[in-house]
Amino acid sequence: MSETTDKKRIFSGVQPSGKLTLGNYLGAIRNFAMLQEEYECLYCVVDLHAITVRQNPADLRRQTLEVLAQYLACGLDPEKSTLFIQSHVPAHAELAWILNCYSMFGELSRMTQFKDKSSKHSDNVNAGLFDYPVLMAADILLYQTDLVPVGVDQLQHIELTRNIAQRFNGIYSETFTMPEPYIPKTGAKIMSLQDPTRKMSKSDENANGFILLMDKPEDIMRKFKRAVTDSDGRIVRGEGKEGISNLIAIYALATGKTPEEVEAEFAGKGYAEFKPAVGEAVVEMLRPIREKTEDLLRNKDYLQQVYTEGAQRASYMARKTLDKVYRKVGFIKR
Ligand code: TYM
Repeated sequence: MSETTDKKRIFSGVQPSGKLTLGNYLGAIRNFAMLQEEYECLYCVVDLHAITVRQNPADLRRQTLEVLAQYLACGLDPEKSTLFIQSHVPAHAELAWILNCYSMFGELSRMTQFKDKSSKHSDNVNAGLFDYPVLMAADILLYQTDLVPVGVDQLQHIELTRNIAQRFNGIYSETFTMPEPYIPKTGAKIMSLQDPTRKMSKSDENANGFILLMDKPEDIMRKFKRAVTDSDGRIVRGEGKEGISNLIAIYALATGKTPEEVEAEFAGKGYAEFKPAVGEAVVEMLRPIREKTEDLLRNKDYLQQVYTEGAQRASYMARKTLDKVYRKVGFIKR
């Protein structure tokens, strides 16, 4: 990959804090792959973010490699995109410290993810959890990112990133590119299969609520057959039909159809027919990803080569921004 390019730049990341879900795939990673032709992309496994919630060290190491393998299995190509592990590029932590001094206690206190996670982990409301969005701002601003593909739950963090960038640029003159979120029209918020008013999340205590990318076909089928719907019986989107609306979105994405086409296809049919059809479509979509991930995890040398080269490229780009920031705030050149 050449160092200089006219393409617009993309950055995004996924936490290795557990197994990846269908929500992570449809809301984010699938788009990472589609965008890599048109943009210069950096995709990161954000291990520094993961430790804001207590992690078992051996699990964290394994999950970090798993996310990288899943990036590759989902079609991210290390020849086209820079794939790396966040802790391998110290500039993320360095810029985060500086941006801390331009981020306000009040604005961080208003972040809904902080409020959610601090009530969920009330025994460990650490400073890193509070500061999480500033590290995310550093991730994005370090690479002069134009576009950030994410699910809708990350929108507030991107707005905060823009506020921090604007504040810094206002004080020191143009330093950071103003990033824009890229939120998919369908799939930006995949809901739990058991409680379709809540987002599908790997931390759900009910494993029937989420589909993991590595779930076996029979588990995927079972979870879709048990998905919570409603008593109306029609396969259409609408209020009070969150469960069916969610299944329509999933089926649409898995088959490449629009939600309208899905509604037409299942007009006059019942849930007993629709739910297994969604399950089968998801099984087929995830099958190659699961098999490829399993293969890649057997080839640790290759994974190491990918993340080592990725970190080298990312460090080079990050250094340019960090040097500029150091100069602007008044640090003496090393
Ligand atoms: P994380 O690891 O929670 O999730 C990774 C991506 O998956 C999306 N996502 C969903 N999309 C649709 N439906 C769902 N149910 C669903 N669940 C998760 C998330 O929106 C996200 O895009 N803070 C980020 C990681 C991060 C990051 C960054 C992202 C760190 N630095 C810089 C972008 C840019 C996070 O926790 O994602």
